[in-house]
Amino acid sequence: DEDADLQSRPPVVTIMGHVDHGKTSLLDAIRQANVVSGEAGGITQHIGAYQVTAPNGNPVTFIDTPGHAAFTAMRARGAKVTDIVVLVVAADDGVMPQTIEAINHARAAGVPLIVAINKVDKPDAKPERVRTELLQYEVQVESMGGETLEVEVSAKQKLNLDKLLELIALQAEVLDLKANADRVAEGTVIEARLDKGRGPVATMLVQRGTLRVGDIIVAGTQWGRVRALLDDKGVTRQEAGPSFPVEILGFSGTPEAGDRVAVVESEARAREITEYRERMKRDKLAARGGS
Ligand code: GTP
Ligand code: NA
Ligand code: MG
Repeated sequence: DEDADLQSRPPVVTIMGHVDHGKTSLLDAIRQANVVSGEAGGITQHIGAYQVTAPNGNPVTFIDTPGHAAFTAMRARGAKVTDIVVLVVAADDGVMPQTIEAINHARAAGVPLIVAINKVDKPDAKPERVRTELLQYEVQVESMGGETLEVEVSAKQKLNLDKLLELIALQAEVLDLKANADRVAEGTVIEARLDKGRGPVATMLVQRGTLRVGDIIVAGTQWGRVRALLDDKGVTRQEAGPSFPVEILGFSGTPEAGDRVAVVESEARAREITEYRERMKRDKLAARGGS
């Protein structure tokens, strides 16, 4: 019985919002605030997704890459990777077109929002105005009598980052997120690239089960045997469980963001699946008049 094997898992959080409202700054600030001394060398590393510890001691996974386009593409392919959207709105700029887009994305995906009003350190910050503007889009934050969690932050001054993590932990508790760690892994490619020295490198979010070094995996039209797993600090691991983001070395080609990752029983099976998908892809292109 699969249900009996469910264990709680960390929330997966995506930060969305209008251009220049401070998404990357906020992600960087949260990550840096969470780096324990002596670990600082690790943070120069490219960040696709990472995990930090909330004040209550529970881990929280942040995904950096799904910008609006990637988020939409992933949803179109049926990949649901995000549990919570943190909507960043700059207090000096207010609700803008991509703020509204983010609200619509979250709503369509059925994912709860937490509003982070950023840049409150600025002299022209008007957080009150942001709250009022959000009402027009049916986002009613707590201080306006609604139920949407909210926090005023400054990525620049590292203000209220713990408060934001606390709200995420609170929202996660309500969602009661669960997964079975004791099965073969399943997940989604968050991003992938061809590294000159290491070959194809894919960042995968493990969503169910546990991925292990040596597993044979299939993602889209690519497959491979996991040669190494690295966490967001570049530290190698033997395995990765639910909600954990890992870099995978060992793919024969570079998969695409949004590709589902599955573990299969043999290399023969992996070849069979990817060759079939490759053929389907070619046929589709040909039908469209491509070559
Ligand atoms: P895109 O990825 O281009 O959409 O932008 P972004 O949302 O990731 O914003 P980014 O983090 O690049 O920040 C945009 C600008 O706002 C930068 O110049 C930041 O230094 C500045 N900024 C971000 N957060 C704060 C803040 O809390 N206070 C102030 N004063 N400036 C901030
Ligand atoms: Na920017
Ligand atoms: Mg950015």
